[in-house]
Amino acid sequence: MPFAALTDHEAAYAHAKAGNASGAAAEDFDDSAWASVSLPHDFALAQAPDPHANPDQAYRPRGPGWYRRSFRLDPAWQGGALTLVFDGIATNATVWLNGTLAARHFGGYTALAIDLAPFPRFGEEPNVLAVQVDASDSEGWWYEGAGLYRGVWIEHRPPVHIVRHGLVTRPVPLAGEAGAWTIPVTLDLANTTASPADVTVEARLLAPDGTPLAAARTALTLPAQDGALASLTLAVPAPRLWSPEDPALHRLETRVLVAGVESDREDCAIGLRTLRFTADRGLLLNGQPYPLKGVCAHQDHAGVGVAVPASLWDYRLRRLKAMGANALRTAHHAPAPELLDAADRLGMLVLAENRTLSAAPDALDALAELVRLGRNHACVLAWSLCNEESIQASAIGVALVRRMKALVRRLDPTRAVTAALNGAMEAQPNIADELDVVGFNYGRAAIDPYHAAHPDRPLLSSEDTSALMTRGAPTSDAAAHVIADDDSMAVAWGQTHGAAWAFLAQRPWLAGGFLWTGFDYRGEATPFGWPSQSSFFGAMDLCGFAKSAFHIRRALWLAEPVLTIWPHWTFPGQEGQPVSILVASNAQSVSLHLDGQEIARAPVHEGAARLRPVYAPGRLVARAWRDGALVAESACETAGPAVALRLLPDRTRITADRDDAVPVTVMAVDAQGRAVPIAQTGFALAITGGRILGVGNGDPNLALSEAPASDGRSAALALFNGLAQVIVCGEGAAGNTLELVARAANLAPAHCAVQVDPPRIATLPAIPPAQSLTEWRQAPASAQRPVPGQKLAEGDMNSWAWTKPGATQPSDPAARWVLLHVSFTPRRAVATAGGTLRFASLAGRAEIWLDGARIAVKDDPAPARCASFPPGTGERQLDVLFDTLGTLSQTGTRFGIAGTVSLAPTVSANGSRIRS
Ligand code: GAL
Repeated sequence: MPFAALTDHEAAYAHAKAGNASGAAAEDFDDSAWASVSLPHDFALAQAPDPHANPDQAYRPRGPGWYRRSFRLDPAWQGGALTLVFDGIATNATVWLNGTLAARHFGGYTALAIDLAPFPRFGEEPNVLAVQVDASDSEGWWYEGAGLYRGVWIEHRPPVHIVRHGLVTRPVPLAGEAGAWTIPVTLDLANTTASPADVTVEARLLAPDGTPLAAARTALTLPAQDGALASLTLAVPAPRLWSPEDPALHRLETRVLVAGVESDREDCAIGLRTLRFTADRGLLLNGQPYPLKGVCAHQDHAGVGVAVPASLWDYRLRRLKAMGANALRTAHHAPAPELLDAADRLGMLVLAENRTLSAAPDALDALAELVRLGRNHACVLAWSLCNEESIQASAIGVALVRRMKALVRRLDPTRAVTAALNGAMEAQPNIADELDVVGFNYGRAAIDPYHAAHPDRPLLSSEDTSALMTRGAPTSDAAAHVIADDDSMAVAWGQTHGAAWAFLAQRPWLAGGFLWTGFDYRGEATPFGWPSQSSFFGAMDLCGFAKSAFHIRRALWLAEPVLTIWPHWTFPGQEGQPVSILVASNAQSVSLHLDGQEIARAPVHEGAARLRPVYAPGRLVARAWRDGALVAESACETAGPAVALRLLPDRTRITADRDDAVPVTVMAVDAQGRAVPIAQTGFALAITGGRILGVGNGDPNLALSEAPASDGRSAALALFNGLAQVIVCGEGAAGNTLELVARAANLAPAHCAVQVDPPRIATLPAIPPAQSLTEWRQAPASAQRPVPGQKLAEGDMNSWAWTKPGATQPSDPAARWVLLHVSFTPRRAVATAGGTLRFASLAGRAEIWLDGARIAVKDDPAPARCASFPPGTGERQLDVLFDTLGTLSQTGTRFGIAGTVSLAPTVSANGSRIRS
């Protein structure tokens, strides 16, 4: 949707003025034929893959897109702070409000916060937000999606308020006082009023169980239209500490009071913990060695792409915790705010990474936004400035890192700064010398020599592993782009999961590591190309379903006995032949027994035993042995033919917020209710009381669409190695029950119900877009009544004033008649069927003329005025002729178009819009 070329002087002149954005950015643009979408939204996912497009972007054409939204603002919000926040836009964006440029933003991974206060209208009159998102550019070598893929918010605060990201707290243990902590709090306050404000600031700390622990207050004066920092300190004698194993969150409440009345407040969940990277004992969490059992992950999930609802972060973190992970590296970009909230709450350390090694102003802004977003979060472990940069061993690299590190230190002096480096570690100059912790990506051979040469430097495996497998695949088939799910294959620069962890486990001075990757993601379908669209690197697939690596990591990471047979024991047609079975275990050896007979035995090496038993259907039992004693037993039965589908929702109670979406597992079961792991059944889904956001099955070579039907009420896909996933959300202001049905030919259907509670998040209602008439010209006032419909000479920018609705003027007895004119082309629906012309507020006595004919007269004090607008195509001429001596009592001697002028399609008797 390019902007139209400017081919005449008047258009060029008008185009260059505030309020006059053109094309789809214009307030009166006709977007009635556009699709209606909900956020978060990824418009790249819906594009058909194209073999000629960028493989790292999952062969999805990206390019530019547009979003528009009309809304009203509560008049009570006037005068305070009003911020429009986009949590993430992929990739470059330009934002207009009411036809005026509001912001430009480069970069897809950090928030864009726009001070909206100067732009909007309040009350009845609508605002039109237009966002051009240009995803032609890419910032990474993974699937980045496109569009408004994170939340979009309007934050309003009263005139005396806490500024965005203005609450900062850095809890520290008091030196020498065992168990006691001090919690310094600063609040950045602002006063938008014209007089100084005397304020009281209060802070209160509540224990994880809600018990009040400490309180403090202070008083200060905020100068008129200015701000100040308030500082308070809370002390607690022996708080419960935060850790991934016990994510105890305290609650910090802060309030700003003016004359004893609360003006603003900000609450924040805080976790009290210490983190220290050492050169000899690795990471210390609360003083104890704490090896990082970490994963790297991009923001990408089956069915929804990068538009990951908040609750899916919850789900993904729970899956990682189930694997035994305690840390997540947000590779290679800033996390979503919801991820940090979930990581605090569920207990997951986060290595928060910055996207670009750069000191360009927008790159530094992005880095600052990352730190401001994360610095109060207990989960944030450290800041990673960059990943694998070719100038990491150079003077320029060093200069950039110094600049970036200084910025991070200013905003957060408490956390370590690191970077993920690959190679040339001993070359000089080197950015490794600038870091608090040196991160090694792969490069195992370099780690011991580096540690020996720099025994005082804390080191971390910022990235390792890069093993490859297809979830549930018993064997590899290169021609079909399938890799056996047995942790036997890794890229040349990586290692299998078993070997990668063995390396770290033998080096307690290393702070642990982050495996590549926790989940499959789109793009980088190494080692394959088209038509493979997603990576094979995940310990879980795109849906979060386990691969063997998930179970091997459990065996390596968890203390409890782990024993899992993988991938299954259902190989029809292979009776009497040896089959490959992996048993993930943390015992010393494993035996397999079929219907009471031992059929195989093998030692456990690096978290797994690999066996080749001869297949026969039945009940396969695995036994785990340590020092000759049986320590665990688990079984897996051969499944018969599938007879029914089954739906398993991750949760059975949600709220009607789109952000509270729930993943539902789809599977096939046999007559005994056993999962059929080899089922590839096609199925169809239908929903009531909710919407389907997307479907997926974890197949990296998936050729079917993951999108539901356009109304979100149905979808279709096929199981992949026994599993698929559908992501659904509830709807309805009052809550209801969501019911999902899955059907497949020759199988019994499956039903599941999810209780939907009323939404928790307030949504600013979207209002049907009307055409706003904004660009008026005002003829010189005259003593004689002019003829409406007259035209101004082309190119005359000055004889008639340019004016926008929203102002009144004093009348002049010497110049009684004033004519205001607008020419415009009605939108299709109005042109075809007619509409209603609405003046939100007309001051004074006036006549309304259309194409030289009078269509309404306003000669009473009521400000609003409607006129029916006849159909007709092409450009129309609208005039408002004010008789300024005929003043009306409510406006005294003033006249003018005091409010918006809009044109909406006619509504039929039954309330529906008449459409052409
Ligand atoms: C690393 C890189 C990752 C990913 C990985 C695949 O070099 O940091 O983004 O590409 O290789 O093994």
